[in-house]
Amino acid sequence: MKCNSSLTFVRFFFMIIRMKVLGIETSCDDTGVAIYDSEQGLIGNKLYSQVAMHAEYGGVVPELASRDHLRKTLPLIKQLLAETQLTANNLNGIAYTHGPGLVGALLVGACIGRSLAWAWGLPAVGVHHLEGHLLAVMLEQQKPAFPFIALLVSGGHTLLVHVEAFGSYTVLGETLDDAVGEAFDKTAKLLGLAYPGGALLEKIAQQGDPHRFHFPRPMLNRPGLAFSFSGLKTFAVNTFAEAGNDEQTRADIARAFQDAVVETLVIKCRRAIQQTGVNTLVVAGGVGANNELRRGMQSMVTKQRGNVYFPRPAFCTDNGAMIAYAGCLHLLAGKRQGLAVEVKPRIAL
Ligand code: KG4
Ligand code: ZN
Repeated sequence: MKCNSSLTFVRFFFMIIRMKVLGIETSCDDTGVAIYDSEQGLIGNKLYSQVAMHAEYGGVVPELASRDHLRKTLPLIKQLLAETQLTANNLNGIAYTHGPGLVGALLVGACIGRSLAWAWGLPAVGVHHLEGHLLAVMLEQQKPAFPFIALLVSGGHTLLVHVEAFGSYTVLGETLDDAVGEAFDKTAKLLGLAYPGGALLEKIAQQGDPHRFHFPRPMLNRPGLAFSFSGLKTFAVNTFAEAGNDEQTRADIARAFQDAVVETLVIKCRRAIQQTGVNTLVVAGGVGANNELRRGMQSMVTKQRGNVYFPRPAFCTDNGAMIAYAGCLHLLAGKRQGLAVEVKPRIAL
């Protein structure tokens, strides 16, 4: 009898410390679903990108995004379960992005996640999209120990965060206007590149002359860790108007713009390292896929005798894996979302 009850306790204990969590990401224009197992790690990950649909309009159309998430999320979950040979019975929880993001898009993921959790008798938890980005690097084999400084550079956000531990985040600086990815996309559009143009701008910048144009490095003459990128975009517009519209000029502008962004971000990250004394850096978010940014950060951090970590490019951009991972940690810590479907389109970190 005694033996049985201790066996029950051990089983119960393992049930609590081991979890398989379905993560759902629908905050913007990517439908991402994934399953994270607290023991095995990531066991499945699927993404459907709406980029082609929005490209026609030169940016994300919120209503179209919501409708497409609605069409794609459930079929993607079904495929994920089939591919991982799992059923609802094998899951221990469901996590979904509850903000920030487009309200309609968030509502689709939250409604589906919360309803499935209710139907399957599982706990649910809402995850902050930016926390997902900050922790995405933890899905890699090469991952940092806490504490670290994270530079989060995406289409909607630009911030420097002191990540002391899971759940303990201090924002050190943010953009006062455009996000870095937004500035990349707007400059790319000016240069005639398709939406979202960040990666395409990086490609043409490879042919650009680094000495033909010099773009300003915004906010570097002021102390602190705030960013501003709207001026760079205006500088690109003016340069383009004066210099003409041939292929080499477009490449030269792309190069000058990218160099200015990379140098500005590198200097701000160095300041953050020096200010906090933490010399472990993580670069997260879609712009983190930029190779010049990675090179610049690597070289700066080496000089600071620290280490820099990058999630793989597919985990820099929006994905369900980072939500499954962050959600799993929250569920293991006992966090639970009530039955109401709640989204927080403008929630701060
Ligand atoms: O993290 P993300 O997928 O979406 C948001 O949460 O915003 O980031 C998308 C952003 C877009 O602005 C895109 O142009 C940019 O990341 N991006 C890049 C590169 N790849 C994606 N920007 C510069 N260089 C790249 N290689
Ligand atoms: Zn994102």
